[in-house]
Amino acid sequence: MTAFFAAEPEEAGAIREALGAGVLLEAPFPLYRGEGVLVAETGVGKVAAAMAVAHVLTRFAPKESFFLGVAGALDPGLRALDLLLAERAVQWDVDLTPFGRAPGETALGVRFFPSDPHLLGRAEGAALALGLPSRRGVVATGDRFLADRKEAERLRALHGAHAVEMEGAAALMVAYRFRHPMALVRAVTDGAGEGAEGDFQAFLREASRRLGLLARALVY
Ligand code: ADE
Repeated sequence: MTAFFAAEPEEAGAIREALGAGVLLEAPFPLYRGEGVLVAETGVGKVAAAMAVAHVLTRFAPKESFFLGVAGALDPGLRALDLLLAERAVQWDVDLTPFGRAPGETALGVRFFPSDPHLLGRAEGAALALGLPSRRGVVATGDRFLADRKEAERLRALHGAHAVEMEGAAALMVAYRFRHPMALVRAVTDGAGEGAEGDFQAFLREASRRLGLLARALVY
């Protein structure tokens, strides 16, 4: 069983449709099942993502999982709808620096939580086969929708991050703790600067459609 996670109804809906997953199971969040797949709509933010991933891993023991969704670009080289294959993700709003930790470093001593390299390679192959532009990079995760160019530049410089979103590093942290293989892939909707919310809305549907195509190519 392969599990797919996405935060919002638009993203999860596109993935669910592409996979033909339809059966709604009981959970504290929407959860769908198809042939060999589960699709979970986690809700937005780190707590929601961590809760959903922990629940699905414990209850359904999938053999692998992908967290898919949209992101704001921090790297000006990324264009709208490009896929960012996250080699690793950091929680940019974790700050234990008064204790001598690096910015974003958790109390576990881990700053960057990795995607499973094998799964990320599969996602890269699937994107290539579909003709979807993609690149590898670093994701910064925090409980804030970023629409602030200065802050976006700060996060890029501080963490070497290429994109920002609100769930990935939390989901990968849970996967790390469960020793579960997970990969994080994001599609760009906006540039995380002023007015990002407009671009987010404009590109959400097409970005979600591409994530659905990617999900189908990953399992069928
Ligand atoms: N997801 C998509 N765009 C985002 C942004 N600008 N900030 C946080 N999460 C996002």
